[in-house]
Amino acid sequence: MFFGGDYNPEQWPEQSWPDDVARMREAGVNLVTVGVFSWALLEPAEGRYEFGWLDRILDLLADGGIGVDLATATASPPPWLSVAYPDSLPVDADGHRLWPGSRQAYCPSSPRYRTASVRLARTLAERYGGHRALRMWHVGNEYGCHVPRCYCDVSAEAFRTWLRERYDLAALNETWGTRFWSQEYTSFDQVLPPRRTPAFSNPTQVLDFARFSSAELLDCYRGERDVLRELTPDVPVTTNFMAGMHWEMDYWAWAAEVDLVSNDHYIRVHDPHGHVNLAFSADVTRGLAGGEPWLLMEHSTSAVNWQPRNVPKTPGQMRRNSLTHVARGSEGALFFQWRASKAGAEKYHSALLPHAGTDSRIWREVVELGSDLGKLAEVTGSVVSSTVAIVLSWESVWAQERPSQPSADMTATDELAAWHAALWRLGITVDFVAPGADISGYRVVMLPSLYLLSGVDRDVLARYVESGGTLVVGAYSGVVDERDHIVLDGYPGALREVLGVRMEEFVPLLDGQTITLSDGSAGRVWREFGRVTTAEVIAAYADGEDAWSRWLAGHPAITRNTRGDGTAWYVSTRLDPPSLERLLGRITGEAGVAGSGVPLELVRRSHADGRTYLFAINHDEEGAVPLDVAGVDLLTGADFPGEVPPGGVVVIKVVTP
Ligand code: GLA
Ligand code: GLA
Repeated sequence: MFFGGDYNPEQWPEQSWPDDVARMREAGVNLVTVGVFSWALLEPAEGRYEFGWLDRILDLLADGGIGVDLATATASPPPWLSVAYPDSLPVDADGHRLWPGSRQAYCPSSPRYRTASVRLARTLAERYGGHRALRMWHVGNEYGCHVPRCYCDVSAEAFRTWLRERYDLAALNETWGTRFWSQEYTSFDQVLPPRRTPAFSNPTQVLDFARFSSAELLDCYRGERDVLRELTPDVPVTTNFMAGMHWEMDYWAWAAEVDLVSNDHYIRVHDPHGHVNLAFSADVTRGLAGGEPWLLMEHSTSAVNWQPRNVPKTPGQMRRNSLTHVARGSEGALFFQWRASKAGAEKYHSALLPHAGTDSRIWREVVELGSDLGKLAEVTGSVVSSTVAIVLSWESVWAQERPSQPSADMTATDELAAWHAALWRLGITVDFVAPGADISGYRVVMLPSLYLLSGVDRDVLARYVESGGTLVVGAYSGVVDERDHIVLDGYPGALREVLGVRMEEFVPLLDGQTITLSDGSAGRVWREFGRVTTAEVIAAYADGEDAWSRWLAGHPAITRNTRGDGTAWYVSTRLDPPSLERLLGRITGEAGVAGSGVPLELVRRSHADGRTYLFAINHDEEGAVPLDVAGVDLLTGADFPGEVPPGGVVVIKVVTP
């Protein structure tokens, strides 16, 4: 199991480096990410390199037996680059240039940035490709974290090139629906990124620009990745995603380009269910890894510095967080960063070695976690398997979460998290899959809100149901095609037949309004007015607070359709959490999927040879929870059946009868 984090030795005097390495060994650290923000030191002037300090720290780490995830250092261009090439700086939708002085101040389409970053990656690979500390390459850092989209003239030209590869002018006009509001283009030269407009921007232009922007940054990554593969074909290449936290990159496309999927996750302290969001992020990441193991590249030992109020983690919370990621498929736990900075923008961000030094709670917990991870070596390579899948599409999120929709509240990201959370509470582990993926092995497939659906992907869902699957579709799914054009003749156009419903109107609720359904469920945010064609009504709209409630009463709210050998459910409102949990519990139960039945987070990892590890996480910091599973806790050696201590984690090597 990997244990460690970002190590930025350049922030500290060189005399302290041997002490860092000694402390790392004491804590059981075995992998550190070096050089993420070191461009300015490595290349202080264009084409002039200073590698001495990096040579020395890599040697020290190698001598200490600590592996290195070596960054290509291209996440933050040095000041000289933008002075020499001002058009390498990004520009926002208002036309404001973003200046150096923080990080990521580059335009993804800038040839200057791309040439300079690939040259640095090549120089690093030539120098360190054979270094004994090198374990993997870390390209860039959190692509798109601060500048996912650039609207400058260079980007505009690149956007036009991208469009020309996909459309002729007639097809562009047709796809973007430019007949509306007099937007017809008569030459590609007239086409711009969706800069700030007087009224709503053209939605398909915005969608295509989101696709383009994700692809541009992916090209930046690929440019560096290609030289690394050329020079060091045996060294895996990764870049850290922000799955489940940032939504601007189409990570399905990105995941296909990395050798190892890695992810960063930070708990938001204002979220009382931060640990459920953690599970969401980890499960999405596992989906990106195609079910294979992945790596938690960053999280925090305690407080971060970028939220309005940065509450430290409670004692034991870091351990629960780390081991939850491992439970859900991570091959270890890495952190930002090794040693808390004393200067700079992130000096209040926690680290493995805090400002207080080794005589501290955090350090003691870090050492304990290192020891725990050391006991889980045999878990590496095992996988999590599930019989329930959620379909997730970044493109659909982009299309849906735009202005000028029926309701600004009907957000896909909230719906995805809510359905995942309901399954989490039921104790059902869920996989995330892309639209069009092979879903034939799942007992239940869910689309919490998948607004944009192509005909091809629709057909995959229909075949799945016909051959016996259970499909559960949430409101505002299948409404538009991949061009963001409405599928006509009743909602939800693409899914009307498989669901056996025909909806005529969306009837959103005002802020705070609730409704009740005939089965006692409660809903918010969204309703639909229509009828069933072939489906049966499981729950009808019953009551509410506005004039529409009367007209909707008795009309279908939750429906079930039998088609071929399978079943397709439709949920036309946003159910409140207990109602959603009840409904999904019923549907999964009928499909033969059992929940955990205990107030513990339970996740299994198994090897192909059958060896199975049950991770049990107790989020109750006050009470122990009994667990009736036969085996031995790898962390303590305790025999089970037994108890999971308050706030504790056990990893039971399960004895199979
Ligand atoms: C105004 C405009 C119309 C249309 C409506 C929409 O009235 O004149 O073109 O945009 O708003 O409500
Ligand atoms: C991100 C970055 C790190 C650091 C952390 C702080 O994950 O990759 O460099 O800024 O956030 O939480």
